[in-house]
Amino acid sequence: MSWFSEFARSSLGKKFFMAVSGLFLISFLIVHLAGNLLLFQGPAEFNEYSRFMSNSPLIRFMEILLAIGFLAHIVYAYILAYKNRQSRPHRYAVKNNSPASFASRTMPFTGSFVLIYLIVHINSFTVKHRFLERENTDFYRTVVEAFQYGWGGFYWLFYVIAMAILAIHLNHGFQSAFQTLGFHHNKYTPLIKKLGSLIALAIPAGFASIPIYFYFFAPKI
Ligand code: HEM
Repeated sequence: MSWFSEFARSSLGKKFFMAVSGLFLISFLIVHLAGNLLLFQGPAEFNEYSRFMSNSPLIRFMEILLAIGFLAHIVYAYILAYKNRQSRPHRYAVKNNSPASFASRTMPFTGSFVLIYLIVHINSFTVKHRFLERENTDFYRTVVEAFQYGWGGFYWLFYVIAMAILAIHLNHGFQSAFQTLGFHHNKYTPLIKKLGSLIALAIPAGFASIPIYFYFFAPKI
């Protein structure tokens, strides 16, 4: 067995891939948020961005990397959670003295919810845009309509709840990734924790501002 497959099968290797894919997904979220904030600029700007995203070969390639990143992150998360449970057969009998935070204990639940969110999200937008409504060039209208009228007026709320859950997931995920990668420093570790909290708050808040704005404040289309 090569050192790589041996590493990938080890628990340390799985944690390593989770950390790297997690940080890659966070960088995707920052770029995705920047693009989606163009919705505030108006239909022309957002539609031009959308057109570019669906036609650029570079973006196609990045999407393949993104899909691999999501898959690796999800598959390893479930394997590690399963192994964790197996290695603690008496977990109900043993009193848990570790000071694990709420965010850390709930990672499998928050992660699973984000996965459900992602399936709904891609089905609403990517599938519609790329496959079902290929001739539709006003993608701004599709997105705004979803937030203003989708699911009988509750689609926006699903996004806001999902973003609150994403915030909890990111809050632990960011600092935990650095820990897994072996980054321990008296001076910089507290800084990374602060940066993690900032990212965990700013990214979901930025995303949540979009459905909130279009549902409550923007003129109905
Ligand atoms: C208000 C919040 C959001 C809006 C308005 C939004 C909008 C969009 C749109 C319009 C697309 C389709 C792009 C296309 O087909 O060209 C898309 C795709 C996607 N979104 Fe989001 N998104 C939001 C939040 C999120 C979040 C929080 C995540 C991850 C947790 C996410 C992950 C993805 C992924 C993986 C794709 C498919 C890849 C791609 O087409 O680039 N999105 N989003």
